[in-house]
Amino acid sequence: MPFVGGNWKMNTDLASSVELADDIVAGCAAFVDRCDVAVFPPFPYLQVVGRTLGHHGILLGAQDVCHMPAGAYTGEVSVDMLLDLNVKVVLVGHSERRHVIGETDDLINAKVLAVLDAGLDVVLCVGETLEQRESGRTKEVNVHQLMAGLRAVTPDSMEQVTIAYEPVWAIGTGRTAGPDQAAEVHRVLRASIGDLYDDDISESIRLQYGGSVKAKDAAGLFARPEIDGGLIGGASLDPEQFKAIVAAAVDAASQEQE
Ligand code: 13P
Repeated sequence: MPFVGGNWKMNTDLASSVELADDIVAGCAAFVDRCDVAVFPPFPYLQVVGRTLGHHGILLGAQDVCHMPAGAYTGEVSVDMLLDLNVKVVLVGHSERRHVIGETDDLINAKVLAVLDAGLDVVLCVGETLEQRESGRTKEVNVHQLMAGLRAVTPDSMEQVTIAYEPVWAIGTGRTAGPDQAAEVHRVLRASIGDLYDDDISESIRLQYGGSVKAKDAAGLFARPEIDGGLIGGASLDPEQFKAIVAAAVDAASQEQE
């Protein structure tokens, strides 16, 4: 089953987050038996968005979490707080947190372990910058971020893990990786997961592509068997675009089954 997530980043306000969640339920609830669909609203709106999503099967996600369980960590949000709000899945290692906030591989790994330990699912994000791509380091950077993020993750926990390949140069730039470029990195990531774990895990793990995905790009990307869904930023704020992207994932999966 494909997996499409909508990362709202630091967008929406109280009223528009409810409206967007309502529209996403109206547009996407019919697909949830054929595609996992998650939305990742800003922390302050998690509760109200969770209520709006109700029991229609769209998953509530968080954009980040603290690696520590509780205590004197001003401004941070714990996994238990997320569990309280019925969050099911957490983004970890998004490039904006790596490159703008300065999160390290060690911190990202600690967050992955905290999320898995709580029984939540994690979407671990990896991706190279333009400079890294142009200097021929795409494979090395992605494999390094993958292995560092998954350090000490047991094979049993891997069913809670999704990987999102999000090339930094494609995020918010309108410059999408083409299906060939995305599929190439996905093959590298899947092979590394096979080396780290086993063939079953590398075949079953879902690899999302993210970076300026719009409805018009979705069918081409999702037609690739290497790509199991998407992590959508800007286009997830438009319920019609988001619905079209989810529908494209459902279509691609049904064609792969034929
Ligand atoms: P855009 O779709 O806005 O490029 O964002 C992608 C992303 O970062 C999703 O996490």
